[in-house]
Amino acid sequence: MGETLKVAMPKGRIYTKAAALFRQAGLAIPLEVDESRKLVVPLPEMGMEFILAKPVDVPTYVEYGVADIGIVGKDVLLEEDRDVFELLDLGIARCRMSVIGLPNWQPGIQQRVATKYPNVASQYFREQGQQVEVIKLNGSIELAPLIGLADRIVDMVETGQTLKDNGLVEMMSIFEITSRLIANRVSYRMKNTQIQELCDLLQKVIPLPEIKMK
Ligand code: PRP
Repeated sequence: MGETLKVAMPKGRIYTKAAALFRQAGLAIPLEVDESRKLVVPLPEMGMEFILAKPVDVPTYVEYGVADIGIVGKDVLLEEDRDVFELLDLGIARCRMSVIGLPNWQPGIQQRVATKYPNVASQYFREQGQQVEVIKLNGSIELAPLIGLADRIVDMVETGQTLKDNGLVEMMSIFEITSRLIANRVSYRMKNTQIQELCDLLQKVIPLPEIKMK
């Protein structure tokens, strides 16, 4: 058996979906890992070690090589812009990045946009030729237009329930998000056989996008 593959797994909602995909692919992650608060979890039967990280930090661990591979949303990948290989679109945690506002929004002189994704938002508005002030928040972004901090927000939309419950509207969808498998550039060469084997297993169980009927 080869060297241990260090895998940066995002804690939280992506973990559940990623663990289900691994299990479907035949990788027997013990159930207790799901409930554990341990941050480094050796999985010798799988030839792996899980590093349970904040989703936004996964590309950092992978770029620096303390994790060989990782699972991360395309939203974080674009925002963090780290030097990593994107190996596979895992097709899980599908949602979209959108511009959102109050239903009566009008282009005004003072344009402020609140978001957890300042780089993504700044780039989008620059490309649109719109001058906006981007304000970074760390969560509950929908609050910003409700209490007058910003005119619009750039945020993830999954079911649309949060928007609906807060009387906001999706004005523009910027890009689709799914989780991706990423690799450290050196690990990709040094542990190529193990990484390729994992990719082959995962590739067989990647869910197809749902076809939306008009
Ligand atoms: C995300 C996102 C939206 C919500 C969208 O927030 O920022 O608020 O989910 O999901 P929906 O369309 O299914 O309602 P998250 O729950 O991750 O928490 P946060 O507000 O702290 O970022």
